[in-house]
This record gives sequence, structure tokens and C-alpha cells, in this order.
Amino acid sequence: MTAKIITFGISKGGCSKSTSSGITSFLLSNDEKVLAIDMDGQGNLTSFLTGEYDICNVFEEKTVLEAILEEDARSYIIKIKENLDLIPSNDFLATLPRKMFEKQLKLDALQKALEPVMEDYDWIIIDTPPALSEQTVMPLSTYSEAGSFAVVMFDGSMFAYYAIPKFLEIIEGAKERYNPSLKTAGILFSLIDARAKENEVMLEAVEEDYPYLKFNTIIKRKASTRRLAIEGFEGNAELKNALEYYIPFVEELKERVNQKQPQGSN
Ligand SMILES: Nc1ncnc2c1ncn2[C@@H]1O[C@H](COP(=O)(O)OP(=O)(O)OP(=O)(O)O)[C@@H](O)[C@H]1O
Ligand SMILES: [Mg+2]
Repeated sequence: MTAKIITFGISKGGCSKSTSSGITSFLLSNDEKVLAIDMDGQGNLTSFLTGEYDICNVFEEKTVLEAILEEDARSYIIKIKENLDLIPSNDFLATLPRKMFEKQLKLDALQKALEPVMEDYDWIIIDTPPALSEQTVMPLSTYSEAGSFAVVMFDGSMFAYYAIPKFLEIIEGAKERYNPSLKTAGILFSLIDARAKENEVMLEAVEEDYPYLKFNTIIKRKASTRRLAIEGFEGNAELKNALEYYIPFVEELKERVNQKQPQGSN
């Protein structure tokens, strides 16, 4: 087996990147082996999957930062549950650009770190920060024989609407320079403000601007989904409800990724 890589991103904050990458990792791990990677120094994916919020202390020098600098992820993988592992992050990830410069590392440093474990997983799911920085470009630049894909998050807001073409440009750049196999799996609507009247208009606009890219599944706002960050996955009585919209999304994602030419290939 070789892992398929899925990077969740958009340079607008709060579009459900961490929530969606975390839930997707959890659901995929029901049947297959998953490595989740937190590339955001906020450590939200780390907290979401581990339930640990004291990330600076608990994961001190045990994060994706060290994995990248050593160009070997093996010592930094922690087990979350059967079939689901995580490389955590914490606030020190902010030092990554300076340390990469000092060590003369390039944007293929994450690729090198992951090479020793690429055959151990079916999926590598990566959460990125709301910025078009190294932390976003490196995952997009990571090649896998089995395919490397981006999921563009969109929350229905005007700010996110204008962030989409910029993110697609970054995907195009990573594809040209480092990762010819990179494809856009699609644009995922996570309507965190589901009551907003303009959602319909924004949905139509995105559909018109990027035909075929929109996932059919729309993640609607749910209090139970929001509460997952508090309640966690284990022994959570409302888990089924919280995951409702993500089950068809993960099926759609698998279909797109397994197509030879995904609809959104670019
Ligand atoms: N489907 C949903 N229903 C309700 N709340 C949601 C849903 N998805 C995400 N949220 C909530 O919206 C907020 C933003 O989500 P999240 O942190 O996943 O976004 P993000 O894109 O990772 O943010 P950042 O850009 O800061 O990394 C969080 O409080 C999260 O719990
Ligand atoms: Mg996040």
C-alpha cells in the first residue's frame, strides 16, 4: 500500500479545515490505516484528536516541526486509536521558516520526512493553517505514487469566496514546481453560518465559477459537530449525529480520489 495524501486548506480562517480533516481521518480509519498530520501551530487538529489542549508542554519537541527538521517522521507519530495515528503540532511550529532557512531545507522537506512511512498507511490527511505559507505549500508539494489531492474549504462567506482562486493558484504552483500528481479533489462547503441568506447565491457563484469542483455533499452547521471538540469521539452519545454530513462527504471523496481523472483535476 502507498498512502493517498489529502490536504485540507483555504487561506481564510474558521472554514472548518481542522474539524473536517479530523472527522475525515476518524471516518476513514474505520476501514483503513490513516495518518493525520497537523501543519497548523494552533494545534487544533492535535487537540481535536487527542483531547489534549496543553499542547505546548505535552508535545514539547515531539511534533511535526521536529519531524520536518530531521527529515524523518517515524519518531513523532502517536497512536490515537486502532488504524488512526497523528503527528501533532504546537505553537513552536511558528519557528519553522527560520529553522528551515538555517538548515537550508526546501519545500520538499515534509516529503522527505514522510517517505519512510508512506507505505504504512492508506491515507495521509493533512490540516493546514489559514495562510499560504510553507505550512500549506509543503503538504501540497508532497508527492505520492497513489495520488496527492487538495480539498478546498469554503464557508459561504465573501472572504472565503475571494480566497478560493488564490488557493487554486497555490495548488497550481505546487503542481508545476514540485508535485505533478497533485489534483484538486474539490471544494467542500461547510456552512458554519447555515442561516445566512446569501448562502444560496454564494453556492451558485462557486458552481458557476468552478464547474465540477463543488462536492455534492454540503456540511451543514450542527451544534453536535461543534461540540465534538469538547466531547471527543470516544463514548460520545451524539457522535452519529455529529458525523451525519461527513459520511456522504467521505464516500464522495473516496470516489473522486479513486477515479483516474477526478472531476476537479487540473
Ligand atoms: N459543521 C459544523 N457545525 C458547527 N460548527 C462547526 C462545524 N464545522 C466547524 N465548526 C466550528 O467552527 C469553528 C471553526 O472550525 P475549525 O476550527 O475547524 O476551522 P478552521 O478552518 O480549521 O479554522 P482555522 O482557520 O483557525 O484553522 C470551530 O469552532 C468549529 O467547532
Ligand atoms: Mg484549523
